[in-house]
Order: sequence, then structure tokens, then C-alpha cells
Amino acid sequence: MNKIYGVIGDPIAHSMSPDIHNDAFEKENIEAVYHHFHVKPESLIEAVQGMKALGVAGFNITIPHKTTVIPLLDEVDELALAIGAVNTVINENGRFIGYNTDGIGFYKSLCDEISGDIKAKKTLVIGAGGAARAIYFTLVKEGVKHVDIANRTMETAAHLVSDCPYDKESKALTIAEAEESLSQYDLIIQTTSSGMSPHIEHSPLKLDQLKADAFVSDIIYNPLQTKLLREAREKGAETQNGVGMFVYQGALAFEIWTGIMPNTARMTDIVSNKLG
Ligand code: ATR
Repeated sequence: MNKIYGVIGDPIAHSMSPDIHNDAFEKENIEAVYHHFHVKPESLIEAVQGMKALGVAGFNITIPHKTTVIPLLDEVDELALAIGAVNTVINENGRFIGYNTDGIGFYKSLCDEISGDIKAKKTLVIGAGGAARAIYFTLVKEGVKHVDIANRTMETAAHLVSDCPYDKESKALTIAEAEESLSQYDLIIQTTSSGMSPHIEHSPLKLDQLKADAFVSDIIYNPLQTKLLREAREKGAETQNGVGMFVYQGALAFEIWTGIMPNTARMTDIVSNKLG
């Protein structure tokens, strides 16, 4: 019998996760299907209970359920607990175990594209929301110690730094302070929604002081090239959009479920074609 996997979220209709996972199941000759399920916040408890009753083999969780799902699970991995968000659940003998593959997915996609020793890069994260939290905690846990956080609301950045349970050398900055000291940074990671479609003429950071050999990553993938990335390339920097993070968070979920790391280049093609 086919195993059932899926993703729950609200909204969910435009999720590309079914495309990448169903293709990978077919390619790996695994008899399984992956559906998207529209679950509103008031139905989350029943949805999780229902998936357990039906023996759903695993599922992804997206906005707005990544934090509220935690108390509904039987066990949660240490990094996911520190981040305070779960995006992947596996059903192990009737027990739901939660992981977070967003931060490590970002890290792996970065390792694919950046040259030099990542751990030595002086890094600046723009934003201090849920995505920044997953990325920041993972970078520090992986050994990238020098990571500063700049946010429109500076207090939120300061809270993020003090919440991080891993050994780090970090400070919180205002956006203006980050812009002034930008030439110190080798790696800039943009995690806010500023610049996302339809607000494609927005950018959260002025790049006047950007080093020409910096690497700039923006986790947005709609549009594929944000204003920030276009401006960074004009300054000579290398850039990366959010497709890699999306692909790797999915690929790592697939690996948790099946033990097989799927073909990420193939997943990237599927996503890029869909985004046009
Ligand atoms: P996510 O889970 O996607 O990270 P979030 O938790 O709502 O979303 O966090 C949004 C982040 O984007 C925050 O850092 C927010 O800044 P504030 O803390 O000041 O609100 C940032 N953000 C959102 N819109 C922004 C904009 N137009 N310009 C700059 N920063 C923005």
C-alpha cells in the first residue's frame, strides 16, 4: 500500500513541496504519495490526531503551524526545540517526532555555492523573525561563530542573540549601523520579507559599503532576483536566491523519511521551472 506524506499549512494551495516530493518518490521507486492539506489554526489539533489515526508516514509543516505543532508531537529534536519551530515530522511506530530542516537546509545550500571556509566568514543576518532564528542558530551550531544580527526593530535582534544557546560571537545592530559597517562582512544573509513579490522594488539594506568579494544570500525565491541581489551583483558580489534553501529543506525531510538523499539538482530544476 502507498505510504502517505504531506504538508499542512494555511494558505497551502501554491506549495511546491508536492511537486518535488512526488517526483523524488517516483525517481527512487518508493510507493508513496505526498499531498497538500489546507489546515486552519483552529483545526490543527484534529489534523495532527487525524494523521496519527490514519497512519500518515510523515509530513511537513509550514506557516502558521511551525511553532504551535510542537506540543502536539511525541518528541522534538534538540535544534528544532531551540529554534522553537518544526517543519518536518516522521511517524516512527506511531510516535510523531519533529525536526527543523530549514536552517540546515539553508546551510547546505550555502555550502554548495560559496567558496572558502564558511566557518571563517564574518556574517551578517538581516532580520530577526522565525526564518532568521532557524538560520542563525544553525550557522552557529555548525561552527560559524561570528554572526551579527541587524533588524528594523533592534530589540528583536538583541533578543535573538541572547536566546541563542550555542557558543557564538554576535551582536545586535540597527539597520543603519549595519549599513555603515557593511565593509566588515564577508557574508550577508537576508531573511526578511522585504523585496518579496509584489513589493519587488523594496530592499531592507543599502549596499554602498559592500565589499566586492562579499557573498550575498537572500532567502526569497519570488522573485528569483530581488532588488538586494541585483544591487549586490552590480557591486561585484556573488549572490544566491532562496531556491536552494527551499530545495534542501525538502530534500533533508525526504532523507529523514526514507533514508535516501534525493537528487537536489533535479528538485532545483522542478522549482525553477515552476517559478519561471
Ligand atoms: P519569518 O518567519 O518569515 O521570518 P516573521 O517572524 O514575521 O517572519 O519575521 C519577519 C522579519 O522580517 C522581522 O525581522 C521583521 O522586522 P521587525 O522585527 O522589525 O518587524 C522583518 N521585516 C518584515 N517586513 C520588513 C520590511 N518591510 N523591512 C524590513 N524588515 C522587515
